Amino acid sequence: MPHTRILAAIEKRRGIDRRQTNAVRLVDGTGDGLPGLFIDDFAGRWLAQTLSETKPSFENDLGFYSLYWKALVKNAAAAPQHLAGELVTKPFHILESGLLFEIDFQSGGSSGIFLDQRINRQKLRSVAHGKRALNTFSYTCAFGVAAAAAGAQTTNIDLSRRYLDWGKRNYQLNRIKDEDHEFLAGDVFGWLKRFRRKGRKFDIIVLDPPTFSRDRTSNVFRVQEDYGRLVEMALECLNHQSLLLCCTNFRGLSSEEFLRILKTAVPRPCQFSRGNMPPDFTGERYLKSVWLQL
Ligand SMILES: C[S@@+](CC[C@H](N)C(=O)[O-])C[C@H]1O[C@@H](n2cnc3c(N)ncnc32)[C@H](O)[C@@H]1O
Repeated sequence: MPHTRILAAIEKRRGIDRRQTNAVRLVDGTGDGLPGLFIDDFAGRWLAQTLSETKPSFENDLGFYSLYWKALVKNAAAAPQHLAGELVTKPFHILESGLLFEIDFQSGGSSGIFLDQRINRQKLRSVAHGKRALNTFSYTCAFGVAAAAAGAQTTNIDLSRRYLDWGKRNYQLNRIKDEDHEFLAGDVFGWLKRFRRKGRKFDIIVLDPPTFSRDRTSNVFRVQEDYGRLVEMALECLNHQSLLLCCTNFRGLSSEEFLRILKTAVPRPCQFSRGNMPPDFTGERYLKSVWLQL
């Protein structure tokens, strides 16, 4: 791998305060003149991902504690392969904006946190104090932790109990009592229907679904076809003067198309503002996020 370009990419990120955030994207493909190469630094344990299936080779003096690699082409659920440095055999912790999160390279698929959502988590934290916040498609509850750290009453929903348990550990790591918050297993659409029936309302809802999903009763969700319906259902569970964060990383949808879907789904007047990707994400702007102030 071109050593000097990797060094230049690392240099570009020197401004990030690592005492508060030690998990960052170090190399972001074309944004760093390294198409097809992405490297995330999780507190010194680096995870390189490539579009090519060919095993990459790196110099040893880049400053990592350990280096792992994963090809993005096939079998996305496979655990990354060890390339150099210390073995990472157990889960470990990273810091993001002063909050701790558990990372696991052996978990398959993702490692526990989506670094591209850092700015949205910071914004959520800045507005969540005293609010009731619903975090749908919560994965390991990183948005929930950010809101709870600000003093919100949080509810997390995910199909996977394993991810919700991981989320509870993330709460505990930050000395937030998980018993004071909700971790609901099951389909988001099913839970939203139940909340509507019971007249349950929230002040903030985070919608950050996968591009495609199928629940246990084979209900299918596709971003292009179903995002509008998801927003309509979320609106029914929101108080007046509330906030809705809508995200998608689906590359097949432009920002304009995404905004159009949102505007069609929201009949009442509201303010739309676009969220930003963190500055260490220098490449493709694939993550679309819009904050709706209702
Ligand atoms: C892309 S991740 C979401 C990332 C998360 N919002 C975050 O910021 O870390 C997708 C998550 O949605 C969950 N999921 C997929 N379909 C679901 C559904 N119909 N209802 C509830 N959770 C679902 C998956 O288990 C997975 O944890």
